[in-house]
Amino acid sequence: MSEATPPIPPYDPTSKPHKRRLRYHGSHPRRFEEKYKEHDPKRYAETVAKVMASGKTPAGMHRSIMVAEILEVLAPQPGEIAVDATLGYGGHTQEILQKLSPGGRLLGLDADPIELPKTEARLRALGFGPDVFTTHRSNFAGLPQVLAGVGLTGADVILADLGVSSMQIDDPTRGFSVKLDGPLDMRMNPQRGQSAAALLQRIKPDALAELLIENADEPHATTLSPALAGKSFTSTRALAEAIRTALPRLNKEDSDLTVRRLFQALRIAVNDEFSALETFLRNLPTCLNPGGRVAILTFHSGEDRRVKKAFAAGERDGLYAEIAHEVIRPTPAERNTNPRSGPAKLRWAKRAV
Ligand SMILES: C[S@@+](CC[C@H](N)C(=O)[O-])C[C@H]1O[C@@H](n2cnc3c(N)ncnc32)[C@H](O)[C@@H]1O
Repeated sequence: MSEATPPIPPYDPTSKPHKRRLRYHGSHPRRFEEKYKEHDPKRYAETVAKVMASGKTPAGMHRSIMVAEILEVLAPQPGEIAVDATLGYGGHTQEILQKLSPGGRLLGLDADPIELPKTEARLRALGFGPDVFTTHRSNFAGLPQVLAGVGLTGADVILADLGVSSMQIDDPTRGFSVKLDGPLDMRMNPQRGQSAAALLQRIKPDALAELLIENADEPHATTLSPALAGKSFTSTRALAEAIRTALPRLNKEDSDLTVRRLFQALRIAVNDEFSALETFLRNLPTCLNPGGRVAILTFHSGEDRRVKKAFAAGERDGLYAEIAHEVIRPTPAERNTNPRSGPAKLRWAKRAV
């Protein structure tokens, strides 16, 4: 008697080939790359849910911030055209896409060539085909060109959730992390521009002091800049140690805060974030269809100031029919369950008809 041939399982384009997991010391994986269960949320949903319930972000994932508030102000409708200018993990995009059906479409932009294909694959696996969802590796400063490239003159809904994603911060190889050691890079697109290490090596103390004040209101800018400018730091840890050594009298809390501010100021400079934001804000009214809505989530005062000013000027000039006069903040419940939402501020504007 011949044995029945087992049926061949249907092809699943999202399944990953079996790989031996990384070895780690101790009973639990600690390092970003060792957390194999968190990197595979489809397979280990229970572990991922436990990590999130503890207020942490699972490795390789990003928890979208103020989703309900953003959907309320953007009010995406079936058939509309939307742009997610900062696609990231695609959490906001996924929610917006559901509201655009039937007949709508969304363009997802991101500067990061490493995370973008992963997010595209994740959203395709959820059933969003190229007819409704396309990705564009582009800085959002180039939004008019991206729209023109696909034959569009404007969008009905635009979202920008500024800064870096948890995937970028938590991956030590990207060099954004204050806590984990890695190469001092900080580029959202590592194929372009100069790393944070190269910037520090090249910059003069006066220019660094100016940069620290402009990008992070750094109170210790004049002490820190001669200790850091022109120096060669290859790792994030070496830079953090040099900052602490330059300010030996600070207590632990102030010292940690200073390291954070300095990393933020460098990241803004490396990625030219303020000039990209200013270009985006200037282009926005022409990228929105009449009656179109834009929502912007910011994470520090340098960003919020620029958004507030641009929206107020647009309203004065009659380009926006309405704008948010007060910022919208995450609820205490969201701040509790996702501490990374803490500094978020949401502003919106509506294009005049
Ligand atoms: C906070 S995350 C967005 C998370 C996303 N809303 C979600 O729900 O997953 C910000 C993303 O914007 C990207 N980004 C930041 N500045 C950018 C710019 N000027 N142009 C394009 N992408 C940018 C980063 O690479 C990152 O992936």
